[in-house]
Amino acid sequence: MCGIMGYVGSEPAVDIVLAGLKRLEYRGYDSAGLGIVDDGRLAICKTPGRVKALADDVAKCWAPELRQRALAGIGHTRWATHGAPTRENAHPHLDAKGRLCLVHNGIIENFQALRARLEQEGHSFLSQTDTEVLAHLIGEFYEGDLLRAVCAALKHVEGAFGIAVLAAGKPDEIVVARRGSPIVLGLCETGALVASDAAAIMSLTRNLVYLEDHDVAVVHPGGIDVRSVDNVPVSRPVTVADWDTTAAEKGGYAHFMLKEIFEQPEALTNTLRGRLDPREGTAVLGGLDMTPREINEISRLVLLACGTSLHACQVAAYAFEELADLPVCVEQAAEFRYRNPIVRSTDLVVAVSQSGETADTLAAVREAQRKGARVASICNVVGSSIARESGRGVYLHAGPEIGVASTKAFTCQVLALSMMALKFGRCRRLTREQGLACCQAYEALPGVVRQVLEQHEAVRAIAGEIARANHVFYIGRGTLHPAAMEGALKLKEISYIHAEGYQAAELKHGPIALLQPDVPVVALANDPRSLDKTLGNMQECRARQAPVYAVVAAGETAANAVATRVLEVPRQPPLLASIPAAIVVQLLAYYAALARGCEIDQPRNLAKSVTVE
Ligand code: F6R
Repeated sequence: MCGIMGYVGSEPAVDIVLAGLKRLEYRGYDSAGLGIVDDGRLAICKTPGRVKALADDVAKCWAPELRQRALAGIGHTRWATHGAPTRENAHPHLDAKGRLCLVHNGIIENFQALRARLEQEGHSFLSQTDTEVLAHLIGEFYEGDLLRAVCAALKHVEGAFGIAVLAAGKPDEIVVARRGSPIVLGLCETGALVASDAAAIMSLTRNLVYLEDHDVAVVHPGGIDVRSVDNVPVSRPVTVADWDTTAAEKGGYAHFMLKEIFEQPEALTNTLRGRLDPREGTAVLGGLDMTPREINEISRLVLLACGTSLHACQVAAYAFEELADLPVCVEQAAEFRYRNPIVRSTDLVVAVSQSGETADTLAAVREAQRKGARVASICNVVGSSIARESGRGVYLHAGPEIGVASTKAFTCQVLALSMMALKFGRCRRLTREQGLACCQAYEALPGVVRQVLEQHEAVRAIAGEIARANHVFYIGRGTLHPAAMEGALKLKEISYIHAEGYQAAELKHGPIALLQPDVPVVALANDPRSLDKTLGNMQECRARQAPVYAVVAAGETAANAVATRVLEVPRQPPLLASIPAAIVVQLLAYYAALARGCEIDQPRNLAKSVTVE
């Protein structure tokens, strides 16, 4: 949710930490702060607003000599959870005696009880945050050994956190800890780095050490000492990052979202790479680590996810039922954990998450594991918590997704899940010929997406009309129903236009009451199997004078007489119709937001990775 960056070494820390924070801004951006050790004292600078505002404040408040002298610093870019995005609530927070400062991602669940206890003991707090309470708690245990104080304090803490702590008089160490919120460490030529996300430090090092839950570590200029919270040394492997940092930059596009929409042909190619077996008509998904017999014994599939990833699961449910003859249950991860779900040992639970850090999905994975289910995951971020904890799964290899609105992850998730459905199908009831047809359709997807992208100007023209509306409906049937919900989600989150995604027939069971000339309907009707029925629903909308923008499969002319405008996309097998439809709705949302002058990559109130429940 928020971003943490830290550096300790032989170079001025301020610029390194600010540069890292800038790269993390997509994770949280309502306030930011920086803490450094200078001449045995702590200096803190915090500001509401973006990292640029923090950099300006730093330049104003700290003399150039001070900025050059300080060789250790920690910084934070915040997405508010406790308390408004003000200077007081921004991190770092100091302990009561001002001897240490702390930045924190996550939520301390028992902070109110801790705060009340500390207040009784005479502490007073400057902010509403749970983080300041943790800083004070660590301060209570601090007698010169920072690691020991952090370990002692964390024993009293409930909740999720990734933290970095800097102490006055300790210019050559940062102490970090992780429980539920990622922390990655790295050594570079001039010192050591701390971050909540590898993207922050990859321009300086590619050798990364990921902390596990309950790890603490002391980070020195020349080394990293990882321990358990009981202060016992533990060893964590060095992972060499293999993705390109330029992939995390905009590459000439106006926004990350647009870049990510347009790189979908390449992302899908990467998801496919080496995973189709054209001789046997199946998919090769080694990371699943399941024998054909084990796959055959699965009695039910449970798909867990949130948001866009949930929509990808809802699309894929059709493929698992149709190709693999498997009952599928798609679960909103946030509900799964709390309603005592029935899980059998023959169930396979698959968690789907772009970031691999979504707290609700991670909690659901743990609940499924507690109940004895076999769990796998589909994640994009390699080494993320969900990927590691599920232990088996499929990576998307879609490259970093920086735009807050998820785009390429959706299409790659649908593809990865479809390949899983093919593999399961071939272990259960699909013939080789049927499998080969699937392989061919999957292989053709990057080209299909390219063709839809070529029509971006036509989509932009429709978006110009939609941008004037206050309410928009998206409708679809079959796999195009979740695609419609995805379209509505995209429009809402970046253009702030109220939108609803409905199963097309469902509209007349109530929501049709809202239709009028200024409420457009986007009809996803590019599955010829259900076109006739959707045409009927479009007629119902037109009868209420609502403009209807229809997406149909190439060559289908029937919609021309009904819709206000028609967009043709390449014809696909019904199970894959959501892919061209998704590209259209992503472009629609993007161009509508652009027309309304919205902040597309960093929409209000949203953060890229939702690591709180
Ligand atoms: C919408 C969006 C969110 C995420 C959701 C799950 O554009 O990005 O709805 O899809 O927060 O995130 P992941 O996939 O990282 O678990």
